[in-house]
Amino acid sequence: MSILSTAIDQNSDIFRSNQQHYEALLTTLRERMAIATNSGRPELIERHHQRGKILVRDRIDMLVDANSPFLELSPLAAWGQYNNELPAAGIVTGVGMVSGTPCVIIANDATVKGGSFYEETVKKHIRAQEIASENRLPCLYLVDCGGANLPQQDKVFPDRDHFGNTFHRQCNMSASGLPQLSAVFGGSTAGGAYIPALSDQVVMVEGNARIHLGGPSIVKVAINEEVDGETLGGATMHTRVSGVSDHLAKTEAEALAMLRDIVAELNMDRDLTAGQNRVEAPKFDPAELTGIISHDRRLPYDVREVIARLVDASRFQEFKPEWGETIVTGWARVHGRAVGILGNNGALFSESSLKAAHFIELCNQRNIPLLFLHNITGFMVGTDAERAGIAKNSAKMVYAMSTARVPKLSVIIGGSYGAGNYGMCGRGFRPNFLFAWPTAEVATMSADIAANVMLELRGSNVKKVPATNDELAAIEKAVRHQYEKQSDPYFATSRLWDDGLIEPAQTRDILGLCLSLLSTVPAVGPQTPVYRM
Ligand code: COA
Repeated sequence: MSILSTAIDQNSDIFRSNQQHYEALLTTLRERMAIATNSGRPELIERHHQRGKILVRDRIDMLVDANSPFLELSPLAAWGQYNNELPAAGIVTGVGMVSGTPCVIIANDATVKGGSFYEETVKKHIRAQEIASENRLPCLYLVDCGGANLPQQDKVFPDRDHFGNTFHRQCNMSASGLPQLSAVFGGSTAGGAYIPALSDQVVMVEGNARIHLGGPSIVKVAINEEVDGETLGGATMHTRVSGVSDHLAKTEAEALAMLRDIVAELNMDRDLTAGQNRVEAPKFDPAELTGIISHDRRLPYDVREVIARLVDASRFQEFKPEWGETIVTGWARVHGRAVGILGNNGALFSESSLKAAHFIELCNQRNIPLLFLHNITGFMVGTDAERAGIAKNSAKMVYAMSTARVPKLSVIIGGSYGAGNYGMCGRGFRPNFLFAWPTAEVATMSADIAANVMLELRGSNVKKVPATNDELAAIEKAVRHQYEKQSDPYFATSRLWDDGLIEPAQTRDILGLCLSLLSTVPAVGPQTPVYRM
């Protein structure tokens, strides 16, 4: 396998100005992450502590194995929405090692609207459960949850992928042998009560933990019974009387230790080092990535420069380097694990689409996970492209990618527009993990093109009434504003279109974690032949 070389001059003006621009983006990302991971309002944090409760991220720190990584998912969910008063959407999710077993952790933040569920909270909860299912991981619920956020009920309660679906998943994961374990720390009402009630094993903390389908106020309204929360659904009652809880912990620390003990005896040992080669650092420093990504989107850069800073020893066996050159395909290792990489070097033409489809089939046959690095304006348009069959050739790429039974990872490093997003395994194609850089833009097309297309459409409007200059200017302004706003990476991550915004220099380690989780998951689905395209 050859070692990639670099054409990057770190002393050049372009490198420096790219780096400067990217550093500003990273400063913004770090500032926003600090805000989002800092729990709710100060007075609610203070009250939480006064009640003897531990903040959600500290609970997770105490739960996971010392010095092991915790892969947090979508920490910027709900960013910029609800007056920015819903940090991390009130729920922390991620993958961490507990007693030597990788587990998905789903933990409510009671300092954010009582841990109640907004639209993004439900999406984040379900996405974490999906990751648990796909990777065959136990789910640990750290419950402190007021159930559905009542004013948001139409967005969280009735539909297919709403709150009810989290319980459907919980039951079916349990039935398929994936343990569902809860530790309850606070008032868990209605939907919040069903999380532990549908768990295989439950720990409750004396004093603060409650489980009740209806809290004291609902009970008063419904049946005119006056009862306090502790009598109605306290930890002692549920552990000694109702049997809803299996273990009584005196403190939160004890509850977390009990949960660790339970996980230690799950009999789910997995060897995450199987199939892993020796790990070698890239020959080129990942920190240089910020100087490579052009801050002016119109200026291209070679995606091999990115690959050289992500893969072990910068070693890359390129497939078809001299054909379909607008997509770079090839094999490498990341943290010692085999991966087949597809990265864009321009728009996808018929040749590049066919090359991608062929490469995906090869990886599928060899059981090698796929990594898509998106920086794509889309598939080529125009008479020449159509006559060359771009519609069917791009469809072949989409088909090969959609049906590939190997794990898929996507990282959106630049633009990811239109059908290009589809071909490169965008969210709709259910990559096992999808992360984005602060330079990501996901939309049907860029703001410039969208504004011009809408002006064209107005010109061919069925009423044939010519538009005034003012009307055209208003259309242009509105479309541009809409596209700029909606293709902002924070808009995307806020709505869970990805599993989180990450820094370029962290990418290799995050991919390594994902690949090690995916390495023990058996491939499902039919094997497809390798058709030469
Ligand atoms: N819907 C809307 N808002 C809710 C909520 C819910 N289900 N649960 C909590 N909140 C809000 C509160 O209004 C309060 O908002 P504010 O800070 O803007 O005033 C904030 O969350 C904190 O609630 P608070 O009651 O002060 O916290 P607590 O820690 O003392 O109690 C609960 C937490 C969850 C036990 C309690 O809030 C509760 O019982 N909530 C209602 C639960 C319910 O009936 N759910 C039914 C779902 S179908």
